[in-house]
Amino acid sequence: MPRDDFEAELNHQHRHLRDLLSELGTLTRNPEGFEAAKGPLVAKLRALRETVQAHFAFEEEGGYMSDVLRKAPRFLPEVERLEAQHTEILRDLDRLTRTDLEKTEPEAFLDEVHSLIERLGRHEREETDVVQRSVIEDTGTGD
Ligand SMILES: [Fe+2]
Ligand SMILES: [Fe+2]
Repeated sequence: MPRDDFEAELNHQHRHLRDLLSELGTLTRNPEGFEAAKGPLVAKLRALRETVQAHFAFEEEGGYMSDVLRKAPRFLPEVERLEAQHTEILRDLDRLTRTDLEKTEPEAFLDEVHSLIERLGRHEREETDVVQRSVIEDTGTGD
């Protein structure tokens, strides 16, 4: 995929993910309570899981952040840390979508959902940050 197309698609996916995270956040604050929110919450979590899995696969295709590393190899530790988060986030999403909500304490479950929203949001912001800093670094060297 040409680089401009890749970046456009990446931006599009990041926007879509941000929307999903904000919708999920809203569902966790359902004024009608946890009972009423359970069904939609599970559906949204499943949708998020599918989107995230496809998104991570897209990012990892051809080497995760290969463009960043070509421009700024010193970002390798950060890139490796972010790539490891893909595994952790997917594993946690798997667990959350498989949770039996009839046997779960609502507060504990919602805490986990909030933690996931927070971590995934931070992961995406940090990715954007690394990409932007690599562009600056690249321009800075005058290539
Ligand atoms: Fe990612
Ligand atoms: Fe991402």
